[in-house]
Amino acid sequence: KGKRAFIAGVADDNGYGWAIAKSLAAAGAEILLGTWVPALNIFESSLRRGKFDESRKLKDGSLMEIAKVYPLDAVYDNPEDVPEDVKANKRYAGASNWTVQEVAECVKKDFGNIDILVHSLANGPEVSKPLTETSRKGYLAALSASSYSYISLLKHFLPIMNRDGSAISLTYIASERIIPGYGGGMSSAKAALESDTRVLAFEAGRKKRIRVNTISAGPLGSRAAKAIGFIDMMIDYSFTNAPLQKELHAEEVGNTAAFLSSHLASGITGSVIYVDNGLNAMGVGV
Ligand code: NAI
Repeated sequence: KGKRAFIAGVADDNGYGWAIAKSLAAAGAEILLGTWVPALNIFESSLRRGKFDESRKLKDGSLMEIAKVYPLDAVYDNPEDVPEDVKANKRYAGASNWTVQEVAECVKKDFGNIDILVHSLANGPEVSKPLTETSRKGYLAALSASSYSYISLLKHFLPIMNRDGSAISLTYIASERIIPGYGGGMSSAKAALESDTRVLAFEAGRKKRIRVNTISAGPLGSRAAKAIGFIDMMIDYSFTNAPLQKELHAEEVGNTAAFLSSHLASGITGSVIYVDNGLNAMGVGV
């Protein structure tokens, strides 16, 4: 029987979430997406108009099928959490059932259960500010969107996850080494995400033998990364300094997610897996 995956954090065909969806689809999984509410209209109309058809192509020539796209805003757990100004915002008013709890309920109603949960989203409104210039509000917003969102997703999807399932998130080495420019509390958010990966692995493992891992990915010129502003420099730095002097393809992260979600990784949980051309292993630049 094929597996079913819910991938939160896909709004175009450039990021890691899209690549993970493709690798899982190529491995035979059914694909459900969670798309940030303000990005939903453009994403869905682009899908419909065939704008992504070229990048939907899988190795066997077929196109990745997306069974359903759910609107999602992972900073809200249920309707009571949503402030009035967001409710009234016209980018949100057109969609419904997009809090984490509601999305999980909708997926349950539509499909019953899932096997694979992927968290490929992050947001830090003050990411371009150094930590010492970050406001409390900005710091907490980074943690809310980039770390707690994962706890919330797992909490709400766990009841509909099949035994022996897998949950995966994306992290970045700025959690453990100094990366100037990755500010606004985003480095803190990734540190929290990695620590939570271990605790969640214990809890989800004991409950349902679900494995929880995070992929520490190298730099990719995604929409989110371009918003940070220093991504081209990080890609150049990696090319110059990493053991493997090649471009890092999103597909390599996608394939790792497919491996981690498969029976081949049945003994791996609570781990941070690096997919970064080996850059994390370097002690000095060369
Ligand atoms: P991306 O732009 O493709 O993905 C980020 C997604 O998060 C977007 O689709 C955005 O709409 C969504 N999002 C933001 N706030 C949200 C919210 N409140 N609710 C629901 N969705 C929300 O960019 P990318 O870079 O592929 O990011 C995916 C993950 O990979 C993130 O966790 C990021 O930190 C991580 N990562 C990225 C690296 C890079 O160099 N691009 C390196 C290492 C990790």
